[in-house]
Amino acid sequence: MKGIILAGGDGTRLQPLTFAASKQLAPVYDKPMIYYPLSVLMLAGIQDILVITRPTDLPVFRALLSDGRQLGLNIDYAAQDEPRGIADAFRVGADHIRGEQCALILGDNLFHGANLPTLLHHSVLKMSGCVLFGHEVADPQRFGVAEIDPRGRLVSIEEKPRRPRSNLAIPGMYFFDTHVSDITRDLTPSARGELEITDVLRAYLELGTAELVWLGRGVTWMDTGTHESLLEAGTFVRDVQHRQGIRLACIEEVAMHMGYIAPDDCYALGAEMGTSPYGQYVMERARFFSTGMPPTAFSDDL
Ligand code: TTP
Repeated sequence: MKGIILAGGDGTRLQPLTFAASKQLAPVYDKPMIYYPLSVLMLAGIQDILVITRPTDLPVFRALLSDGRQLGLNIDYAAQDEPRGIADAFRVGADHIRGEQCALILGDNLFHGANLPTLLHHSVLKMSGCVLFGHEVADPQRFGVAEIDPRGRLVSIEEKPRRPRSNLAIPGMYFFDTHVSDITRDLTPSARGELEITDVLRAYLELGTAELVWLGRGVTWMDTGTHESLLEAGTFVRDVQHRQGIRLACIEEVAMHMGYIAPDDCYALGAEMGTSPYGQYVMERARFFSTGMPPTAFSDDL
């Protein structure tokens, strides 16, 4: 399965932070925002990934992640010259997908939860059509909202409804079969001139092949598009890391855990950043992985 991280957009709600730099490079506590969606794709077993950004941001993303080989990945880049909507990812990324199944994740979405890898694996394995996720939120009016019947089957999808039929928001992560490019090709832009992802999901719903997977209480989902939510996400990451002594979305650790790179390679990546607590953590995890020795408490500003 191919992966796409959609990391373009103008990030107008985060201005002036986003005048000169992409939102998805902003720090979420100790790492760039894009590490979070990237680690989710990696945990889903996806190694062939396209990063879509604004043309001006492309060199910076390339400087950050290069071709992905250091993580056992293949990372390509493509530019979206205007924010033409989330579903535009399938047009910009048409060559990348080329008749394969595809996962799309938004570059400003953060997921965390113990059962997330299992959920992702099951979704990839049993997918026929598309898989979208549902997450209970207090303010569904702000999101795409899924309505389900008493047996948990998806009935309708509405974009930012004034009177939501449920509190199940649809997070920015989706899995699609090989028809997604064809479906997107026939799509007409919405009134605001964008190719809407909800229209793609609705097309699958009409075909009877859209499946909703409930993320449940065990998974936290945050988007980081406003100053408030960016700070909230950073605080969440700091608090979990502090309590548990682990790091979320540590892409080097995930790569080793998934078997994409060897512990020695992981250690070397950590050593390159060895003066930072993050680098020391990567080295500790690599040592733990290969020797089984419990990690020692590493100094940190946590
Ligand atoms: P949004 O938060 O809807 O848009 P934005 O990031 O430009 O921010 P703002 O609303 O403050 O102007 O986008 C959600 C994610 O999808 C975000 O990671 C950017 C990405 N995106 C694109 O890359 N291209 C697009 O055309 C759109 C609409 C979004």
